[in-house]
Amino acid sequence: MASIDYSQKIPNNVDLASDKRLQRALEKWQPSYLKWWHEMGPTDFETKEIYLRTAVSVESDGWAHFGYVSMPEYRWGVFLEPLQNDRRIPFGDAYGKPAWQDVPGEYRTDLRRLIVTQADTEPASVEQQRLLGHTAPSLYDLRNLFQVNVEEGRHLWAMVYLLHRYFGKDGRNEAEELLERRSGNPDRPRILGTFNEPINTWLDFFCFAMFTDRDGKFQLLALAESGFDPLARTCRFMLTEEAHHLFVGQTGLGRVIQRTCEVMNAHPDAQPREHGAISLELMQKYINFWVSSSTDLYGSEVSSNAANYFATGLKGRAYEEKAYQDHVALEGSYSIEKIVAGEIVKEEVPLRNAMNEILRTDYLIDNQKGVDYWNKIVKRHGIDFEFKLPHRRFNRQIGMYTGAFFDLDGKPIDEHTWNQKKAGWLPTERDREFVLSLMQPCREPGKFAAWIAPPNKGLNGQPVDFEYVKL
Ligand SMILES: [Fe+2]
Ligand SMILES: [Fe+2]
Repeated sequence: MASIDYSQKIPNNVDLASDKRLQRALEKWQPSYLKWWHEMGPTDFETKEIYLRTAVSVESDGWAHFGYVSMPEYRWGVFLEPLQNDRRIPFGDAYGKPAWQDVPGEYRTDLRRLIVTQADTEPASVEQQRLLGHTAPSLYDLRNLFQVNVEEGRHLWAMVYLLHRYFGKDGRNEAEELLERRSGNPDRPRILGTFNEPINTWLDFFCFAMFTDRDGKFQLLALAESGFDPLARTCRFMLTEEAHHLFVGQTGLGRVIQRTCEVMNAHPDAQPREHGAISLELMQKYINFWVSSSTDLYGSEVSSNAANYFATGLKGRAYEEKAYQDHVALEGSYSIEKIVAGEIVKEEVPLRNAMNEILRTDYLIDNQKGVDYWNKIVKRHGIDFEFKLPHRRFNRQIGMYTGAFFDLDGKPIDEHTWNQKKAGWLPTERDREFVLSLMQPCREPGKFAAWIAPPNKGLNGQPVDFEYVKL
């Protein structure tokens, strides 16, 4: 059943109407969700009409419908990719056995934890971004922000459906708590560190959409392989929505870079900031911050939990079926660089224990594509500057590199050197104040703030000066 039933209170393609108890439970959760959206979603734009896309089918061709919607009227629902006949568990000890359509009792706790951890990031990002609407550099960008926000809300729905449908009372309690934690709240924070970091400026937002949403992509890719089939099918559809978020991040930062390059060429003797642009060096610092924070999201380099998730068929590797031949991973090892007495020492660890590091490596490789895209923009303007990803050891708060100090190339340094260099590597208070000072709204169709270039084209075939948000 690929098409989505919009006649229901909760749009869905899972035949919700046939399970009255579940339907009632979700319909009870719905007002709590809307209350959360009202309190913690984008401020002050609830009555505005926004040109948004809504899923109408989960088929890969043309699943989206575009039209004006006010955000609280957005049709959040439950959309899964269709059931494949005879899907098999694609990795781990149960490799090749039929995928589970229900939760195996022995994996209940682990699966719930995996789903809740993913679920928690979705409302968290909406909370982090809630004030950005006031300083949007254009209507085009404002619309993109809101598109990302409503889709993160939908991802929460996707995960809450699984919790309600498969985890009974525990699942319903978890669904309540997902609406109670708050990003950045000292008493009830969101589960993962990056999702408690403030996003005060659009530069942070673009970096977040580029680097933190990309963590989301890789977590979803790993869960899309899960032996628990409903989770796999949920994540597959979420990935199609996620692609737009990454586009917003990569092209958003690309447009900031483009504007800066234009300013540099027009005023070769001045600093970009004198003409209201953000220097390339300053953008590099924001990149360093968001990449290192997002790199932490993969957890410990050597992890028995990760080995266990793989062994039991709960969480695989990205592109497990396409990218690997050995799906059992009992043989072989993975080389990890440990720090022993201040020196880097290579150590082979059993493959299964390195699953976090393997996913992190795939993520970092994917990040590089965005950096290459930005460097092309710089080069096109004839400017001698190259963006670089910080080394995976740089500025880490989780895993084996925590507590030690490394430069941008991953070379061990002492704390004194770190303290001396830090202000050149990561945004300082003054940097943040400057970027914040540029965040003045620009709300005329087709007009853009001075620190960002317009996009090459509009959305869904619309012109750039289209009225993406009716204010
Ligand atoms: Fe998401
Ligand atoms: Fe996202």
